[in-house]
Amino acid sequence: MSVNVLFSARPTLWPVYEPLLNIGLADAGIKATIATDLPPDQVDYIVYAPNGGLLDFTPYTRAKAVLSLWAGVEKIASNDMLTVPLARMVDHGLTQGMTEWVVGHVLRYHLGMDRHITVQDGEWAPDPPPLATQRSVCVLGLGALGQAAAQALAALSFNVTGWSRSAKDVSGVTCLHGPDGLRVALSQAEILVLLLPETAATENTLNADTLALLPKGARILNPGRGPLIDDEALLQALNTGQVGHATLDVFRAEPLPPDHPYWAHPNVTVTPHIASETRPETAAQVICENIQRSESGRPLLHLVDRALGY
Ligand SMILES: NC(=O)c1ccc[n+]([C@@H]2O[C@H](COP(=O)([O-])OP(=O)(O)OC[C@H]3O[C@@H](n4cnc5c(N)ncnc54)[C@H](OP(=O)(O)O)[C@@H]3O)[C@@H](O)[C@H]2O)c1
Repeated sequence: MSVNVLFSARPTLWPVYEPLLNIGLADAGIKATIATDLPPDQVDYIVYAPNGGLLDFTPYTRAKAVLSLWAGVEKIASNDMLTVPLARMVDHGLTQGMTEWVVGHVLRYHLGMDRHITVQDGEWAPDPPPLATQRSVCVLGLGALGQAAAQALAALSFNVTGWSRSAKDVSGVTCLHGPDGLRVALSQAEILVLLLPETAATENTLNADTLALLPKGARILNPGRGPLIDDEALLQALNTGQVGHATLDVFRAEPLPPDHPYWAHPNVTVTPHIASETRPETAAQVICENIQRSESGRPLLHLVDRALGY
């Protein structure tokens, strides 16, 4: 069998992925031509990221699937010009990176690290933190990333609740779902982690009403997507002390404009969308496995439900 694969992503990634995809497909027994430029009507698969600039999929009349290098597919899921199956990225390296970012920032809050790292004023004021068993952490979104982060936190003995659209069973994690589940989840969330996708249904999941359900002084981590939060409502909650601190990795506009109030707010930490990224070595294996599955008539892994948007 022989397939043509178009690589449409940030140009600097091409030299990294080209050898990995060539080796991976050869190992899978697939003869392939992989290039950044192919006649559209001869393309069988499109390896895709939004920063490759491809928007119009209609000339790709032979394409069997679009394989995203990104976990978040909000920029392509609603593209009406895409009519073939879309698979998102679930990559072991990406998941591991997100787990490390979440655990690190949860521990920062849990242990009150800032107090000793940023203030060394000669005052000896012992105030040991509680144990993780006495700390409730809530993870909104129990998909590939949310489940892994929740289980890593549970392994550290945090009291972990997770919330998703459909009912879930994740060992070590109290699983809730639906609107009532969200209210219960938020009411216990001393530290709240957002790992939902950006869809019409998840926009402004955190708004004035839902922020008011959190325990006073709750801390928020958002490595999900900017639109999950109503920014005005969060700033208001930070100003009243309803939210004690927020660490935000993603924003409605990226890069976050220099004059955005988040930069100057004393109780906000901005990180520049670095919580985790797709790791080429492991991601290329996922892409190759999906092409192999498709070529042998098996269903694609990690298919996006276009109606749900994730
Ligand atoms: N900051 C970064 O560097 C970075 C890196 C990678 C990814 N991300 C973000 O992380 C997000 C999550 O990735 P993932 O791979 O874990 O996604 P995923 O596997 O698709 O999981 C999404 C989770 O969200 C839940 N969900 C979706 N819509 C919901 C709703 N309306 N109400 C309640 N729960 C809802 C899903 O519920 P069900 O289980 O019931 O379907 C699922 O548990 C991505 O979409 C992306 O935006 C950020």
